[in-house]
Amino acid sequence: MPSDTARRPYVAGNWKLWGTRAQAAAYCERLLTLLPEPARRDADVAVCVPFTALETVAGALAGSGVAVAAQNMHQADNGAFTGEVSAPMLLELDVDAVVLGHSERRQLFGETDRALSEKVPAALAAGLQPILCVGETESERDAGDMQRKLRHQVQEGLEDVADDRLADVVIAYEPIWAIGTGKVATPDQAQEAISFVRALVGDRSTAAADAVRVLYGGSVKPDNAAEILAQPDVDGALVGGASLDPESFAAIVGAA
Ligand code: 13P
Repeated sequence: MPSDTARRPYVAGNWKLWGTRAQAAAYCERLLTLLPEPARRDADVAVCVPFTALETVAGALAGSGVAVAAQNMHQADNGAFTGEVSAPMLLELDVDAVVLGHSERRQLFGETDRALSEKVPAALAAGLQPILCVGETESERDAGDMQRKLRHQVQEGLEDVADDRLADVVIAYEPIWAIGTGKVATPDQAQEAISFVRALVGDRSTAAADAVRVLYGGSVKPDNAAEILAQPDVDGALVGGASLDPESFAAIVGAA
């Protein structure tokens, strides 16, 4: 699969369960002092924050060019789904994007590929950019099952997305064994898996495969970001732990 250098790099920080509104406000103020002006930035930048911090962060980052993402949403606009939040609710808070299918949601909270096949098109239809996360466990990799797992997750997650909207999805390849472990994938491992994900999109649409952005996530730090991001099919990073420090997050944006 040829790689298209026109894809704009994308670096997103996933705060996970971190960030009171006070912490979020202080973080945003600091981050904006560290990032170049929007016109001089070579990457799209996003922060993925808890629901309760979304309004604060959207206000603090208004006009900064830094996108604001939620970390989950329900596929329905409303209904008897206690504890859930919908796309219209996120849009009302000026949210731009939403992380869907993070492995922590899959493993700890029962998120399924079936639900994701509804959430991804629901986000697109509402005008939110979905960041669909996929990735294998260590035992799946060791058993030679990485491709089977990725195929299933990518095909089902994108099943009800029209071909002409595929490139509006951002896909994050996050090998579960690399998340929060300090055990980062090698640049070759990241490139191999991400080119495979791109080829899966290519099974649906060659144009979408050229345009879709596929990020790497899993123990990305300022000192390993550049060599991973230099891989031809790696279009950016979804950063967990290292995104909680504005300095290190800004350094990773700089590496992109
Ligand atoms: P770490 O960068 O902390 O490994 O987390 C990666 C991740 O899960 C981002 O969504």
